[in-house]
Formats: sequence, structure tokens, C-alpha cells
Amino acid sequence: MFGVLRITSVLLIVASLTRVTVSIFDPLQHSGPASPYFDAPSQFGIPTATPSGCRVDQAAYILRHGSRYPEPGSFAGWQALFAKLHNQSQTYTARGPLAFLPQWVPPVDDIPHEPLFLSATGAGESFMLGVDLRKRYGFTAGGGNLTVWAASQQRVLDTATYFLRGYLSQGNYLSSPNKNRGSIVVLPDSVNFTFADSLTPSAACPNYNSGNTGSAKATAFRAGYLTKIATRLNKFLKGLTLVEGDVGVMMDLCGFQAEINGDTRFCDVFEPEEWLEYEYAHDLNYYYGSGPGNPFAAATGFPWAKAISDLFAVGPNALPENGNGNFVPPPLIMGFTHDNNLPPVLAALGLWNTSSTRGVYPLSPTTPNPVRKFRSSYLVAFRGYIALERITCGDVSGIGSGAAFVGKNGVFVRVRINNAPVPVPDCTSGPGATCPLHDFLGHVEKRSVQSGDFVQRCGLTGVANATSKVEFLTRQPEDILLVGL
Ligand SMILES: *[C@@H]1O[C@H](CO)[C@@H](O)[C@H](O)[C@H]1NC(C)=O
Ligand SMILES: *[C@@H]1O[C@H](CO)[C@@H](O)[C@H](O)[C@H]1NC(C)=O
Ligand SMILES: *[C@@H]1O[C@H](CO)[C@@H](O)[C@H](O)[C@H]1NC(C)=O
Ligand SMILES: *[C@@H]1O[C@H](CO)[C@@H](O)[C@H](O)[C@H]1NC(C)=O
Ligand SMILES: *[C@@H]1O[C@H](CO)[C@@H](O)[C@H](O)[C@H]1NC(C)=O
Repeated sequence: MFGVLRITSVLLIVASLTRVTVSIFDPLQHSGPASPYFDAPSQFGIPTATPSGCRVDQAAYILRHGSRYPEPGSFAGWQALFAKLHNQSQTYTARGPLAFLPQWVPPVDDIPHEPLFLSATGAGESFMLGVDLRKRYGFTAGGGNLTVWAASQQRVLDTATYFLRGYLSQGNYLSSPNKNRGSIVVLPDSVNFTFADSLTPSAACPNYNSGNTGSAKATAFRAGYLTKIATRLNKFLKGLTLVEGDVGVMMDLCGFQAEINGDTRFCDVFEPEEWLEYEYAHDLNYYYGSGPGNPFAAATGFPWAKAISDLFAVGPNALPENGNGNFVPPPLIMGFTHDNNLPPVLAALGLWNTSSTRGVYPLSPTTPNPVRKFRSSYLVAFRGYIALERITCGDVSGIGSGAAFVGKNGVFVRVRINNAPVPVPDCTSGPGATCPLHDFLGHVEKRSVQSGDFVQRCGLTGVANATSKVEFLTRQPEDILLVGL
């Protein structure tokens, strides 16, 4: 009897510990673009492993740079908060979750060199992705090389560099550059003369900004909760009053300070419901700024999706039939860029914008719907990515890419966003809810109509050299930066 009781109470303790573990709320996974990288949960319940009996033979990633220091604009906000908290002509007392405020200093101690650049966490995230993909795919034999593509801002180049160091690892050829095996093709960043043939195409789309209502919608939504939070927090202060703007800065500092120096005290200041409101403001910003809610976004994301779909149609180590390039990209096709270039790809492919529940999309400007799958934290966290994988399963001899798959044998496509598999709308009949390649190619064709042509949608008809195609992946690289490994 005693023994049974003991076992029961142990089980109860285990059960309650499990429950507690599961329900712990982590603000760092709800901080939108200020979240350091984490694997997103599998929102659709699809297991993350490659389906058994299958292997990835080609993969393409478009990703945001790793965790970084603040932009000069947001850093100015941190400095203003610091000035307010350390105002000599004012004395105040702070208690409870704010007791640390009088001692707080901004986590930037080399002002000329830190803002905008990668933090150590960002370098580590980038390196680890190289390690992970090396092991995940096994594409590159010892001594083999890898060419990747990157927009030219330093934090993006640094992300690509650390990625290559993690991916290629062996040897150190800094002193003999002819032995380098990692190459970065550097593309102009956020210019308007490369049009769609770019990793930053929206900057070359004149109509794009007219469709961007993201920041206005986010600002309006924030107005609904910042005052409420300021009022709650001011009860912990005597002689100092926090205003809306201070609260906004303090919430940003949770993610940033966690990744810069590991200090999570700002994360503890706010309640879970407050984080969910903060996160939703970011969701609105991206959904209506660069995602499906900007009517010009899909046209800017489509060219990359189409170029990858053309490469997947012929398979690894081959050139697309209708292309005019002569460079064969490696089986792992890496594109390093900025946060705002990911949601357009999502919009182009129609991902995260459909629901069996009515009324989820377009996102409500005022009322977060908890069943939505569009979550900025699960996409544009630092080093966030959209990956397309071409997967062959079973015996594919005699099954061309044009043919339907036979049972579990065939070629399929899987989308993964920050690790989590995401279904292609109406195309989940393959193993592990993958999309048969033939149907994926058809889906991309359909989306070309929905997305619209880059030159036309962007208002560039008749402009010299304007192009709607991504061709940089198959163009012989001219401007290659060699990475010493
Ligand atoms: C410092 O306090 C003084 C007196 O209360 C106030 O006038 C001034 O605006 C404060 N400065 C900052 C940066 O908050
Ligand atoms: C390195 O990459 C280039 C370009 O893809 C390729 O032509 C070459 O054969 C590769 N070299 C090795 C040793 O893999
Ligand atoms: C690109 O930007 C420059 C400088 O702002 C401007 O003069 C030019 O007209 C733009 N070109 C296009 C195609 O929009
Ligand atoms: C996203 O969904 C909304 C509502 O269903 C629709 O109006 C919009 O066209 C969709 N956007 C894209 C890019 O598919
Ligand atoms: C178009 O491309 C050609 C060849 O690259 C270049 O010489 C010319 O300046 C470009 N024209 C414009 C308007 O960008």
C-alpha cells in the first residue's frame, strides 16, 4: 500500500513538473525580429525529420543575418532611456521587477563598431547553421568547396562567412588563399538597378512602399497596449514616470540584451499577455509590410521561388532547360539577406496565408487570432530562414520529374521555416505531408499569376534593363569574395 502510494505521488510530481515545463512562457520566442534564433514549433504537427526512406538531394535557403547590435535609430532610443533613468536632477525609487533600473546600462560598449553589426551570438548562430547543414545533408565531401550568395551589407556578409567556416571547417588557409574552398558571391544590397535579380528585390520595386501599411497598423495596435503597460509599471516607481515609448524600448531590450550579453532582466518585467500583444504588433508589421498583406510583396518574392523551382525541376548539378546561365549552383543553394526579404517569398508561395478556420486572414488590425499560423517570431527571428528541400524517396529510377509519384517512390518538395515543416497549400500527398515535385512546379506556376510579374506590378514597364527573373544563381560569378578558412 505504502509502495503504491509512493509510486503514485512520484507520478503526480512527474506529471506536474511536465505540465509546468510545457507551460513556461519564453518571451524570447515571442519577440518577433528581436528574437535570437530558435527552432520554431511544428505548427502543423508535421514531424521535422526527413521522411524515412527519403533523402534530400537539393536544398535552397533564403535567410536573415544572425543576431546583431541595434540599428542606430533604435540605439538612440536605448540611450534616451538610459539618460532618463540616470538623470542627475531627478531622484526616484524603483522596486519589484523594476528594481534593477537605476543600475541598468545599455549593452553597447563600443559605439563606433557595434551598432548594425553581428553580435557574438549572431556569429555563433551562423557558424552553427553551417555545422547543422553539413551534417543534415552530407552534400559536400571532404576537400569539396561551396559557393554561397549574399547581399553586401557587412552583417549579411559576416553571416555568410561564419556559415562557411562552420560548414567547411577543416584546415586554415588564411595564409594561402588559393586553397580557400568557401566563396561568397556578393550582390548589391538594397539598390534599385538590379530589379528582381537580387536578394533584396523589394528595394527595386517602386510601387512596393505604396502597398506597405505594416508600420502604420503596428503603431496603431501598439497604442492600444503601451499605455496600459506603462500604468501598471509606474506603480513600481516613485519619482519617475515611464511613458509609452519607454515601454516599447524596454520590450525590445529583452531580445536584444539577451543575445548581446545574456541579461534577461527586461524579459522578466512583462506578463505573457503583454508579450503576445508585442508579438502581434510585429506580426502586423510584417504581414502588411512585406508579407501577404502588401499587394506588391508576392511579386518581389516570386522570382527567387521560381528560380529555385526551375533548378529543382532538373535536379542537382544541372542547369535549368530554359535558363541562359552557365554556372551550375551547388546542391545547397544559400542566399543571405535581411528580414524583409523573407515574407515576400512566403507570400509568393501562398504559405501561412490560408486556414480551414474562416476569418483568420487577412490578419485583423485590432484582434489577434490565436489560431493564425503567421507568426513573425517563427520566421524573422535573427538568422530565420525559409528552406525548400527536394526530396527523393524509394526507387526513383524511371520516374521523371514530369511523372506523378508512385506510392512512396518519387521526388517531393518540403518547405521548412526555421526548421518547422510548413505545408504547401493543397499539396501534401507525399510522405511526411510533402508536395510531389510535379505538383509543386504546378503550384509555382499558379502562384506566378497570383503574385504578378515583377516588372509589371512594380511599375517598371519600359524601364531599361528591368528584369523579372532571378538569374544570379546560374550566372558565372564575377565579384567573388573568397573566405579564408
Ligand atoms: C531630467 O530631469 C529634468 C528635471 O526633472 C527634466 O527637465 C529633464 O527633461 C530630464 N532629462 C531627461 C533626459 O529625461
Ligand atoms: C569548386 O567549385 C567550382 C565552381 O562550382 C567547381 O567548378 C570546382 O570543380 C570545385 N572544386 C572542387 C575541388 O570541388
Ligand atoms: C533609382 O534611384 C535613383 C536615385 O534615387 C533614381 O534617380 C532612379 O530613377 C531610380 N531608378 C529606377 C528604375 O527606379
Ligand atoms: C492572403 O489571404 C487573403 C485573405 O484570404 C487574400 O485576400 C490575399 O490575396 C492573400 N495573399 C496572398 C499573397 O496570397
Ligand atoms: C543596362 O545594362 C547595360 C549593360 O549592362 C548598361 O551598360 C546600362 O548602363 C544599363 N542601363 C541602365 C539604365 O541601367
